Formats: sequence, structure tokens, C-alpha cells
Amino acid sequence: MSRDDSQNAGSDIASSGATSSFGADVAEKARIAIELINGAVTADELEQLRIRFLGKAGEISLLLRGLGKVPAEQRPAAGQAVNAAKKGVEEAIDAKKGSLQPTGRKAKKSIDVTMPGIRHGVGRRHPLMQTMEELKSVLIGLGFRYDDYPEVETESYNFDSLNTPSWHPSRDMHDSFYTKTGHVLRTHTSAFQTRALKMLKEPPIRAMTAGRCYRRDEIDATHFPIFHQLDVIAVDKSISFSDLKWTLESMLQAILGKDIKLQFRPSYFPFTTPSAEVDVFYRGRWMELLGSGMMRPEVLRNGGIDPDVYQGFAFGIGIDRLTMARFGIDDIRLLYANEQAFLSQF
Ligand code: DAH
Repeated sequence: MSRDDSQNAGSDIASSGATSSFGADVAEKARIAIELINGAVTADELEQLRIRFLGKAGEISLLLRGLGKVPAEQRPAAGQAVNAAKKGVEEAIDAKKGSLQPTGRKAKKSIDVTMPGIRHGVGRRHPLMQTMEELKSVLIGLGFRYDDYPEVETESYNFDSLNTPSWHPSRDMHDSFYTKTGHVLRTHTSAFQTRALKMLKEPPIRAMTAGRCYRRDEIDATHFPIFHQLDVIAVDKSISFSDLKWTLESMLQAILGKDIKLQFRPSYFPFTTPSAEVDVFYRGRWMELLGSGMMRPEVLRNGGIDPDVYQGFAFGIGIDRLTMARFGIDDIRLLYANEQAFLSQF
């Protein structure tokens, strides 16, 4: 065999070894090997082929070892044929190596490590939810339980059971959202009060809920038709207004800091007597924050609690305004726009 072009090595071997059937076998094996080698795509594949044909137990290596069994007079020719086959396969492998693409592993090594990486953003709670969760956890620490209550409410729980008469302006179609089934989107979280009393039954009861409320409103920097409240009730045998004051002070100091001041202003709510609106002095100004009072006997009775035995306090706090004060947000609409750039600041 004079040519060392590995592409054609197989046919050279075939013609030189065709004198015996052993030689023909060898040539055929080499031809197959070279064809496979030429078709290899990756270095891994090529290495597998090298092992298959030239490895210790490789097909061509075994032929070499089997030479002893060939009749003595045919042995020189057979030996020549096997060696030629081996050489041809080796040359085909060498020739192929140079032209192969780097394998996946090699390609990884060539990644430019100075390129900026892919940043996976870490999610965070919406500022409204941060305030809500903090209030909840302070109150849970004070012994209150938390439950979710319906946002689509009956008029009865939202108004009647809270002693809110039918002439009350909040019942007007222009002030609230009604469904076709006669339900109302809760106008305040206070709608939970008699539901909670009925569910929990036995005082002492310390309960709260929080979440979305809905009222018809023109949208501007301080008004939005969706807003968030947290409502709290405590019912027991000797609950007084001072329990309410202490609870409010503890809760707001935990959220806004020890140096805040509270101011109770007499007010009116149909479901509490006496009632107070509470303002908090925070960062140099007074801010109206919540409504509160002692639960009216009608409300306790509507919840199945005997008002001659038990008293209760209640308060409801607006989460949006508190969140805006804490984080220095001056437009309520920002809380509902879902702007990534805005939200990622908190
Ligand atoms: N629900 C009232 C409102 O939305 C706020 C409120 C006042 C809640 C007094 C209370 C309360 O629990 O006792 O304006």
C-alpha cells in the first residue's frame, strides 16, 4: 500500500488482502471502521470508535491476536493484511481528529467569564402587603387570631348587622359596588365583625382580618376605588376603652417607632359607642389613621353575644395611608400601577 490518504485506505487494504478469506475479513472490517471514523461528528464518538477497533479488546486488535490460528503458509500475508488494516484505521483516526468540532465540554471552557451574567431578580412583597403583614404579626403577638373573610359580601354583614341603617349614604348605589346578585363588594373590613362573633362564639374573642375594600371614588392622588383595611375586635367580660388605647399604642409604636403620639378625637360610627378617630403624629405632622370605639350592643347581639355580659372594642385602620406615610409615597395611584421600577424601591 503506497498511498497514505486515509480516506482511501480501506480500498487499498481490500485489494492487498483479498488473497485469502482471512485477508478479506480484515479488509472488510477496516473498510467499515474507516467509514465510521470518517462519519464521526464529535471527539467522544471518535474515541469510542478507536476503542471499538484498536482498544485492547478491539476488533482489529483481536484479529492480530488470532494470527496464531492462521495456517503457517498463509500467516505472512495475513499478518501483512492485519497490520495494513491497523495502520489504515490509525491514519483515519489521526486525520479525523484535526477536523472535529470541539465537544460540548470543551466549548464550555471557552466561555468569556468577563461577560456580565444573567441576573435573576429576587421578588419582594408589595409595600401594602409589607405593612399589612407587619401589623398582622404584631397583633398575633398580642394574642389576636387572623382569618380571611369574603370580599363579596351580603348587605346584611356589610351594613345591617353593623347597625348601619338603610338611609346611610354608604348604602347608596353611588357609594358602593353592587353585584347583579344583590351582593356588595365590602366597603370596609368591619363587615367581618358579626361573622367572626358567630364563628368563634365563645368569648374571650380576639380576632382580625385584613384585605381589599371597595368604594366608588374619583381617582386622584389620595383616592382610589380599591383600598386596604385591617379590622380588629376584642370581646370579653371586662374589655374597656383603655384596652383599646393600649392595643393601638402598642401596635403603632411597633410599626412607626416609640416616639409617635396618638390623638383620640370623638367621632361617630353606627357600630361603636363611644367612637373615636385616631390621629398619629409622625414625621412632623398629624395624620388621620383609623376609626375605633366600643362595640354597640346591637352588633354584639347580631353576632350572638350577650351584651349584658360581654363588652368589646373594635378598630379599623387604613393600610394605604399608613404605607404612604411610612415609605414617603405621595400618590396612592403608585400603589396600584404595578410599576417594577417603583416597587423595587421598597
Ligand atoms: N369601618 C370604618 C370605615 O371604614 C372604620 C372603623 C371605624 C372600623 C370604627 C372599626 C371601628 O372597626 O370600630 O370608615
